[in-house]
Parts: sequence; C-alpha cells; structure tokens
Amino acid sequence: MADSHAQMTRTTPQEVIVSIVAGLLAPLLAIVLIVMLVLDIQRSQTPDAAGEETQKAVAERIKPFATLDALDPTAVVAEKSGQEVYDTACVACHGSGVLGAPRFENKADWGARLAQGYDTLLKHAIEGFTGKSGTMPPRGGAADLKDDEVARALVYMANSAGADFKAPEAAAPAAAEAAAPAAASVPTPDLAQGKKVYQNVCSMCHATGAAGAPKPGDHAAWDARIAQGFPTLYDHAINGIRAMPARGGNASLSDADVASAVGYMFTESGGKL
Ligand code: HEC
Ligand code: HEC
Repeated sequence: MADSHAQMTRTTPQEVIVSIVAGLLAPLLAIVLIVMLVLDIQRSQTPDAAGEETQKAVAERIKPFATLDALDPTAVVAEKSGQEVYDTACVACHGSGVLGAPRFENKADWGARLAQGYDTLLKHAIEGFTGKSGTMPPRGGAADLKDDEVARALVYMANSAGADFKAPEAAAPAAAEAAAPAAASVPTPDLAQGKKVYQNVCSMCHATGAAGAPKPGDHAAWDARIAQGFPTLYDHAINGIRAMPARGGNASLSDADVASAVGYMFTESGGKL
C-alpha cells in the first residue's frame, strides 16, 4: 500500500522539469500570440504604398481649394477650354451618341448639321434643340456655362468631325497680357475714385483679410508696407506680389484707378501722400 502510494506520487526530476516548462510555456505561447495579433493590427493600419497613393490623390484633388490659387480671381473667372467643357458637360451624350446625339469625331453624324452653319449650331447648343434624333438640352444641361464656353465646346466637337470653326478666345489669357506692362510713372491718386475701386474690386480680399490681404486701417498690417513708400505699393498693386494678384485680378482697371485704390487704402491706413 505504502509502496503503491509512493509509486503513484513519486515524481522523477525529469517530470518536474517538464511540468514547470509546460506550465511556463502555455502563458508564454498566449503572450506571443497576442503580441503577433497586435503587430498584425498595427501593420494593417500603417499606411502602405497604396495608402500613400490615395493620400496623394486626395491632396491633388483638394489642391485648388487647399492653396491660395482658389483665391486668385483671375483663376476663378478663367473660362473653361472647349475640351474641358466637352469633357464635363457634353461627353455624356456626344461621346457615345446617347439619345441620338451626334458623336464626337463622327463625320456622318455631323455632316448635315455642320452645313447649317456655326451660328445655328451655337444657337441650338445654347438654347437647346429638339430635332429628328432627340433632344439637346440648353447648354447640355449645364446652366452655369457661359455662352463662350458652350461655343468653345461646340467648336471642339464640330472640328473633331471635320468643321473648321474658330473658337472664341478665352478671356483670361488676354487679361494676363494686359496686366503685364509695368507702370511707367505713378498717376496721382483720386481718393474718391479710389474708394469706389476699392469697394468694387479690392475689398473682396482686403476687407476680410482673405489670403493675408492687409485690411485698410489695420496699422499692424500696413505700417511696414507704408514704409515702402507709395510708389512701391503702387508698383506691387499693378504687377502683383505674392498672393496679391496684378491689378487685384481685374486687368481692365486703368493705372489711374489702381493708383487711386492704393491711395485710398494707403491714406486710410495712416499713410501720407
Ligand atoms: C443629355 C444629352 C446631351 C448633352 C449632355 C449634350 N447634348 Fe448636344 N445633343 C444632344 C442630342 C440628343 C442632339 C441631337 C438632337 C437632334 O438633332 O435631334 C444634340 C445635338 C447637338 C448639336 C447639334 C444641333 C443641331 O442643330 O444639329 C450641338 C451643336 C450640340 N448638341 C452641342 C452640345 C454641347 C456644346 C454640349 C455640351 C455643352 C452638349 N451638346 C451636350 C444631346 C446632348
Ligand atoms: C484676390 C485677393 C486680392 C484682391 C482682389 C486685391 N488684393 Fe491687394 N493684396 C492681396 C494680398 C493677399 C496681399 C498681401 C500680399 C503679401 O504681402 O504677401 C495684398 C497686398 C496689397 C498691397 C500691399 C503690397 C505690399 O507691397 O505689401 C497693396 C498696395 C494692394 N494689395 C493693393 C490692392 C489693390 C489696389 C487692389 C484692388 C485694385 C487689390 N489689392 C485687390 C490680395 C488681394
């Protein structure tokens, strides 16, 4: 009895070691598994190459809004090219011929239509048109398109199908050229006129401080600028400086108007002419 009891409970040193090691190993294994799980989760959350691509794409897409370009009025008023308009407003139907729309680059679809002449086609594109094949909505359904933009899209499409129309010039590049010549001499500012020009053109940014435009009367923003002297400020207003567009983005402003507006802001902010 004593013997069998001794036999049942007797443990060899090897058995002791094995049980200790096994006892340690089980929790250790659990820990290792948990650590691996955590690492795996982390890995799935760190941006991999594809993630970076997406981020780049997003950054690219929000760029016009994320940068000051969005505040450049010359960019805002810049009209779309024929291809841009076509790609956004016309391709849906004219690309494939949906609803009977004459197809891009398809001479057969366009031949008889082109024979109507540019003016009729433009009228139909702007006002809309219901013909034998279907209904062309006014401005292709894009009501915010300017006449010139519709015209350019029409020219782009018609010329792809054999026409030789001339597209209306985009307004923006011409404006940029007009702004180029540097100021020869500084006109004498007319402050009453300057106030009007300021209110019509410059206040858009300068009244709110958009893009860092100095507000008239804000001495902290103007003191150092006034110290540059009126002629320098006038020159910067004519030619643009950093986020300040040439002539406030309005190329049709005369030198005298710009000088007057600068003079108005200059004196409102404590400068002496
Ligand atoms: C919703 C579809 C649709 C969109 C979008 C659309 N069109 Fe059309 N367009 C048509 C259809 C359909 C016709 C053919 C009408 C017919 O002759 O029966 C047509 C015909 C025309 C014609 C020929 C008119 C004529 O006298 O034969 C012109 C030009 C034209 N479209 C210009 C444009 C321009 C420019 C745009 C983009 C700004 C545009 N369309 C967008 C459907 C569309
Ligand atoms: C689209 C916004 C915008 C419009 C519109 C605008 N400005 Fe500015 N303007 C700015 C910004 C931004 C600055 C600050 C530029 C800087 O110092 O980095 C600035 C600065 C100036 C300065 C100071 C230049 C300097 O050397 O520090 C003058 C002068 C000025 N503008 C005149 C005008 C006049 C005159 C008009 C209207 C005819 C006008 N601005 C319209 C954005 C604008």
